[in-house]
Amino acid sequence: MQTAYRKLKTWKMANKIQISPSILSADFGQLNLDIASIEPYADSLHVDVMDGHFVPNLSFGAPVIRWIKTSLPLECHLMVENPEQYFEAFVKAGAHSIIVHAETVKDLPACFEKLRDLGVEVGVSINPETPIFAILSVLSQVDTVLLMSVHPGFGGQEFIPEVLDKIRLIRADYPDLDIAVDGGVNAQTAPAIIEAGANILISGSYIFGAPEREEAIKKLRGEG
Ligand code: DX5
Ligand code: ZN
Repeated sequence: MQTAYRKLKTWKMANKIQISPSILSADFGQLNLDIASIEPYADSLHVDVMDGHFVPNLSFGAPVIRWIKTSLPLECHLMVENPEQYFEAFVKAGAHSIIVHAETVKDLPACFEKLRDLGVEVGVSINPETPIFAILSVLSQVDTVLLMSVHPGFGGQEFIPEVLDKIRLIRADYPDLDIAVDGGVNAQTAPAIIEAGANILISGSYIFGAPEREEAIKKLRGEG
């Protein structure tokens, strides 16, 4: 099982960059239409949950997520304090993976175990100012590490290039790990992010603000 899983990971790494559009920048008045517009070109859907405490903004929770219609895997990025109290609700709402912030969880291994028991993939994230030492000891326990390249809370911010060193350091030791980058990802910043070793690009305002979303996604993959 473990071997097959690792083979799948290696295949994913070798074959393509994955694009995860962040619906924070979608039009919530027609959310499912906006999702349909990117669905054929994307690999997963990034769902930003904010509580107004861990980050200075509010977004939405499980009651909204359950109405999302998509065949893409839903990746829930929890920018909330006490994320564990919401796990079950997000899983019931359709989450395929749940990403918690290391800054919000005291016992990360126990938290991951809860998520595994609920049957979802597990991710850990750190803010731009959090050093990777905060998560090095748990990287072998996660499916994805999400490196924030803006201060979490809002879409449309400028990419913080210091994240590139974090990607390189982690990729050197974890050739098969999914490394996602979130914030300020666009056609200009994507090449350096990919070159550093990330394989999942999360992008909100660039994709949903583009006149041609298919083209925008191709450009992120380096195909446009
Ligand atoms: C920021 C969120 C991001 C955001 C990215 O707190 O975690 O997912 O939607 O938006 P852009 O791509 O516009 O920087
Ligand atoms: Zn996010």
